[in-house]
Amino acid sequence: MKDKATIILDIDNQKQEYNYDILDSTRGPKAVDLRTFYSDTGLFTYDVGFTATAACSSRVTYIDGKKGELRYRGYEIEKLVSKHSYLEVCFLLLNEKLPTKEQLMHFDIELRHRSFLHEGLKNIFGAFPDNAHPMATLSAGVTSLASFYFDHLDIKDDIEYKEMAYRLIAKIPTVAAFAYRHSIGTPLIEPDINLSFTENFLFMMRAYPHNNLKVTADGQEQINPIEIKALDTIFSLHADHEQNASTTVVRSVASTGAHPYVAVSSGINALWGRAHGGANESVIAQLNMIGSVENVEKYIKKAKDPNDEFRLMGFGHRVYKNFDPRARVLKKLQDELKQTLKLDSHLMEIANKIEAIALSDEYFIKRNLYPNIDFYTGIILTALRIPKQMFTAIFVIGRTVGWITQYIEFKKDNQSKIARPRQVYKGK
Ligand code: SDX
Repeated sequence: MKDKATIILDIDNQKQEYNYDILDSTRGPKAVDLRTFYSDTGLFTYDVGFTATAACSSRVTYIDGKKGELRYRGYEIEKLVSKHSYLEVCFLLLNEKLPTKEQLMHFDIELRHRSFLHEGLKNIFGAFPDNAHPMATLSAGVTSLASFYFDHLDIKDDIEYKEMAYRLIAKIPTVAAFAYRHSIGTPLIEPDINLSFTENFLFMMRAYPHNNLKVTADGQEQINPIEIKALDTIFSLHADHEQNASTTVVRSVASTGAHPYVAVSSGINALWGRAHGGANESVIAQLNMIGSVENVEKYIKKAKDPNDEFRLMGFGHRVYKNFDPRARVLKKLQDELKQTLKLDSHLMEIANKIEAIALSDEYFIKRNLYPNIDFYTGIILTALRIPKQMFTAIFVIGRTVGWITQYIEFKKDNQSKIARPRQVYKGK
């Protein structure tokens, strides 16, 4: 016997009963199938911010907010990132299974060969002022990919989905690195196909022209393996996250039949907000603004004050009402890197003080406000010499595979419809 939901409406003393199927899930909450609720009852459901609304069914990523659990295609995030590279995580998300050695090698080569940009596309960077935020240039650059590579509007088969996915995953780090290089007035450094995905990104960010990438004045290698592994882990932790705000935007743009590249650039724009992916940059700005351990109490008080719009960046989450599992991995990574990379101990001291107070304060406990992924990324990225204005671009590079995977799942789902929510009208 299928589970059912019965809704009894009691309006103007008239009782009316309606029955709805309950949709099964393999993990997490089931859902009441309300697709005919409006046509049955003439009423809308009201759920601002979609706190209890499933906009789709999906097989990609599972989050358990109570337990603080995150799974990509069923693999728990902590175990996955401890054993697999970002490229293996990309392959898993796109193909529902981890790659064999040979599949990984071919995938890697496919991406390396696609990491270059059309020569005409490079002109776009010069059109931006030096102080343009890299997220603005990145969004414009990804949108313009649709002009330079105008195929893939109506994708017919898996080969085209793969080509579109590989092109975006491979080119977005190059667009991001070029946006940064332009913002500091230095020549663009072309991708080097001899380098791995993550090392190549650091190379395009740091190398000197003519590839004479030497050791720095203090004898440090320009790019060391510890930095590559740390950044690769950060990309993996950001790869996908169920139906978050930017993924919802990507699916909405997919639902109108727009080009996949502009769906992803729409995701980039949505991610930029400080309530979402832009929080990682705001966390560092906030730690610098707080300035000392002595000031922490004052800002915690502001964060708790309902009349003060100040919020603790990197704290709280719509789904996690426990530690964000990605934050747990990053906290461990931060401790590991303390010895090997120059982590900013002053900022870490302030961050640790915030965390200690917030986790024992009634206001945060009652609201289940825990550190999220953005609370820890900034300190590690700073130690990787990634400039603050590039933090959200790093999030974009990691999340691109998730947006594309969700885009493809949407397009292949025969139940998909154009996104068109309704409203409760309060006007005249
Ligand atoms: C990401 O969705 C995803 O999966 C996103 C993400 C992903 O991988 O895609 O995980 C990435 O976006 C992480 C979140 C990064 N954002 C921040 O760190 C910004 C600071 N956090 C908040 O703005 C907030 O917590 C949100 C936006 C993340 C969540 O907001 P909700 O779920 O809508 O919660 P809410 O705003 O309704 O807050 C509930 C209560 C409120 O107090 P009351 O009205 O009940 O008294 O908690 C308070 C809020 O004022 N609150 C905070 C707070 N976050 C929530 N108070 C102080 N500081 C905070 N950070």
